[in-house]
Amino acid sequence: MSMHVERWERYFLYASVAVLVAFFIAILASIGEAGIHLPTDEAQVDPNVVVTQAPFDNPGLFETGDNQYEAVMVARMWQWTPDEIVVPEGAEVTFTITSPDVIHGFLVNNTAINAMVIPGQITKVTQTFDEPGEYKFVCHEFCGLANEQVGHHSMFGKVVVE
Ligand code: CUA
Repeated sequence: MSMHVERWERYFLYASVAVLVAFFIAILASIGEAGIHLPTDEAQVDPNVVVTQAPFDNPGLFETGDNQYEAVMVARMWQWTPDEIVVPEGAEVTFTITSPDVIHGFLVNNTAINAMVIPGQITKVTQTFDEPGEYKFVCHEFCGLANEQVGHHSMFGKVVVE
């Protein structure tokens, strides 16, 4: 039995398959080229003890290379530790952040940084600061326990690029 398919119907069938193939290639490219993936066990920690263990038992700024730094930070109700980070112009800073209590958000003004900080997970984001100045950061998640988010608005700090 042979089935007759109209010419235009056939073209649209081809186009539909082409779109699916293109999307599948885009997914593969996002994994292979851009390294985008779901959270893995690698970044899981126990929020009850994480601040007693390295590196979070000693938060601060650490030089890791030529004008490269790691900022180890703890987000908790309702402060960032540290809440001021000073680096030279052009510094590449990897922020390594965790939370021992509730979900916080890390947003740095005038950068692309906008990340969640989730208890039990380690958040890592990297940014190069080419322009000198002050980059204020805030917690952008309305954080706290039920009906007690009184300190959320005071959870801010800054990166100073000299
Ligand atoms: Cu932490 Cu809002």
